[in-house]
Amino acid sequence: MKNTEKKEKSNINWFPGHMAKTFRKMSDQLKIIDLACEIVDARIPVSSRNPDLDKLLSGKPRIILLNKSDMADEKATNKWIEHFKEEGICAIPVDCKNGKGVGVFKSEIKRVMAPKLKKYEEAGMVGKPIRVMVVGIPNVGKSSFINRISGGAKAKAENRPGVTRGNQWYTIDRQFELLDTPGVLWPKFEDKTTGEHLSFTGAVTDRIIDTELLALDLLKILKEDYKDLLISRYKLDTVPEDEYDLLCLIGKKRGMVIRGGETDTLRASNMILEEFRSCKIGNITLERVEDYA
Ligand code: G4P
Repeated sequence: MKNTEKKEKSNINWFPGHMAKTFRKMSDQLKIIDLACEIVDARIPVSSRNPDLDKLLSGKPRIILLNKSDMADEKATNKWIEHFKEEGICAIPVDCKNGKGVGVFKSEIKRVMAPKLKKYEEAGMVGKPIRVMVVGIPNVGKSSFINRISGGAKAKAENRPGVTRGNQWYTIDRQFELLDTPGVLWPKFEDKTTGEHLSFTGAVTDRIIDTELLALDLLKILKEDYKDLLISRYKLDTVPEDEYDLLCLIGKKRGMVIRGGETDTLRASNMILEEFRSCKIGNITLERVEDYA
């Protein structure tokens, strides 16, 4: 068996069991949680969510943070906010790298939790901290968010009854207690698009994926939805219909030429993917409400 085949097979084998364990841990902890804070990548709000969470979190107040909004298309982000609002979920754009929107989260928690806080008050439990579970797939920005909101406070391992030992709790302004996702919540690779979108953003690094094919697929989307950004970034006069021709042209513009005058397409592909991931091409959202709603 070739190495790549081995890797593919082992991924398929360990994935469901791993996921089931995380869901079990989350489900245990949800009993003592007041609110779930789900972090997604604003550039790919569908692929960066685990769809099974909807069932697990049903009945719990929830806030969705559209993180990395500094790299997303603002218009598209606003449409997602409206979309989630229609579903009865409060969504907030945040940029955890710079701290934008993190303050809004604190006030929104109080708004979303107002009915429960009233009940606490009536029961004489004034000042009881709101317990929040932060959930999200790897790389979506959970640590950055927790660092931002806690001002870099160290996590405390809790030892109270009903609270699993070893879990990471963070106390914020004595008003909130934040729990990081217990375990690793993997994305759900339901179709080719999900894996591809997660690879575009760099959320998953799968060496099985062909870099050139990935870059060609990204160029296809950019050519359709963000042509002007491509023209401006790569100083193009025209945008060829064919993605491969476009890749060659961009490579040539950047001097990535091999002997015989041909474009070094692998180098050009890596460059395009890197420039997308670091937002150099511009603010781009790959998944729009219109395509999913
Ligand atoms: P995780 O805990 O969910 O796995 O994610 P983590 O916070 O480690 O964030 C993953 C990467 O995403 C980090 O970059 C982090 O800086 C970046 N990031 C998180 N939130 C934002 C955001 O709102 N905007 C932008 N632009 N980036 C964000 P890295 O390259 O892995 O590390 P580093 O360069 O920050 O050291």
